[in-house]
Amino acid sequence: MIGLQPERPADWWEVEALYDLCFAPGREALSSYRLRDGVDPVPGLCQVARDSDGTVVGAIRFWPVHVGGAPALLLGPVAVHPTHQGEGLGALLINEGLTAARTAGWARVMLVGDAPYYGRFGFTRLDGVEMPPPTNPDRVLGRDLEPDAWRDVRGPVTRWSADVPARD
Ligand SMILES: CC(C)(COP(=O)(O)OP(=O)(O)OC[C@H]1O[C@@H](n2cnc3c(N)ncnc32)[C@H](O)[C@@H]1OP(=O)(O)O)[C@@H](O)C(=O)NCCC(=O)NCCS
Repeated sequence: MIGLQPERPADWWEVEALYDLCFAPGREALSSYRLRDGVDPVPGLCQVARDSDGTVVGAIRFWPVHVGGAPALLLGPVAVHPTHQGEGLGALLINEGLTAARTAGWARVMLVGDAPYYGRFGFTRLDGVEMPPPTNPDRVLGRDLEPDAWRDVRGPVTRWSADVPARD
């Protein structure tokens, strides 16, 4: 049996260890990490999956970002332990996360990832949304949580700051 629970501060390093296992070395050099530096993930949306022994077997985190001044969620990292991949756990983490994000009032979500995987969750390429370089634009994907939420949203993706005037 695998159960999902909101990530607590005490889970942080177990989740980091899972990410280290699942991603290539040097993951923190990716430009998406520069958007996370010094910013807390969104509490309540980050989830940890544990098996019946209590071992962390999957995790998802979300960060807030601005896109051309508009608030958006940055999905990721998401990872599933190699011994549990292909069992639908990644889909469960993503679908639960998207539902929680919508319930929490977020209008739009983006990520940097593989379109063949994320397309099944409704993510498509975001034209005009500029991640810090070097990022392949074909991997910059988004989906609405409210109708047409991405329609007029363009520009650079920047680190979340309470000082940026809110714009829907
Ligand atoms: C990507 C990841 C989270 C998916 O988790 P999972 O629990 O294995 O996924 P699910 O069981 O929900 O879905 C499995 C399906 O996704 C497909 N899939 C997995 N990763 C994929 C990818 N990068 N591109 C395309 N398809 C992918 C599998 O082939 C499988 O396809 P099928 O349903 O046709 O058999 C997991 O494989 C993982 O942790 N990978 C390493 C870390 C990573 O790449 N994270 C994503 C960053 S973009």
